[in-house]
Amino acid sequence: QAPTRHEAESATVSQGVVESNHAGFSGTGFVNYDNVQGSYVEFTVNAPAAGTASIVLRYANGTTVNRPMAIAVNGAGVNRDFPGTGAWTTWASTTVTAPVNAGANTIRATATTANGGPNLDYAEI
Ligand code: GCU
Ligand code: CA
Repeated sequence: QAPTRHEAESATVSQGVVESNHAGFSGTGFVNYDNVQGSYVEFTVNAPAAGTASIVLRYANGTTVNRPMAIAVNGAGVNRDFPGTGAWTTWASTTVTAPVNAGANTIRATATTANGGPNLDYAEI
């Protein structure tokens, strides 16, 4: 089944702002996480059936310092590294696999360090 794209600028944002000043994003912008621990973006996504889903997160990190985040699906998750991509206009993807329920699921990507998260473009599932 083809993935569905969920733009970060349309998701729920806690401690971050939607911006569009670094080219190469999908949709109308991206989320610039506040550079604090605990800032997050939460997507609500629909899954046609229960099972293991692949979730692609597209991001940019124009620094040379990793910006790890906790990726939680329905509250349970994994830690994921978001290393530097070379520039804020250079976007990269990382894929997380997680169990999903049939119907609505939440995917929350939370910065785990005081540097905040990377800039986040979208989640595809
Ligand atoms: C710069 C950049 C932002 C980025 C921020 C950061 O201000 O323009 O897009 O989010 O650095 O370091 O988090
Ligand atoms: Ca930021």
